[in-house]
Amino acid sequence: MGVLISGTGSNMKALVAASRAADSIFEIACVVSNKADAAGITWAKELGVATQIISHRDYPSREAFDAALNDYMQAQHLDAIACAGFMRVMTPVLVAPWAGKILNIHPSLLPLYKGLHTHERAIAAGEKEAGCTVHLVTAELDDGPILAQARVPVLAGDTPESLAARVLLEEHKLYPKALSDFLSR
Ligand code: GRF
Repeated sequence: MGVLISGTGSNMKALVAASRAADSIFEIACVVSNKADAAGITWAKELGVATQIISHRDYPSREAFDAALNDYMQAQHLDAIACAGFMRVMTPVLVAPWAGKILNIHPSLLPLYKGLHTHERAIAAGEKEAGCTVHLVTAELDDGPILAQARVPVLAGDTPESLAARVLLEEHKLYPKALSDFLSR
């Protein structure tokens, strides 16, 4: 597996931990970030996982950046890619060569609340339930086939931050399990 991140990398950390369990069926070969200062890169290094920075700022277009990412991923001979807080919209240049092999985790119960600020929007809408979704990536944002979901209650007085923290705990359990299930299909 390759893991794509842009920030904190707590889901990446959960995937690395799961990959090191005795019964794991996957290995994390590399963690790639489009941001050099992503905290997750420091974590990945501490965990002894190979890291690579490929900055979108070094490329003139989304397509050129995606081509560079694809070249790197292909050279690693990966079976699949897990996006974990990777904050770039992907073009077909990257999605097509990995069709059916790129997963993402999104902090909402898709198809509800695609895009950003999911928790803020769920609270504003008066939702009683929120959650997270692991899905396959397609060229449409947060739109690919759903592989797994986990639900949490929205509690009275929740802020986007308190709800995000509750959902994130579920993300860390859901993603490794959904990935294992996906790889053993
Ligand atoms: C998670 O909430 C994930 O669902 C979303 O971005 C966040 C990343 O968090 N795509 P982390 O970097 O894994 O801590």
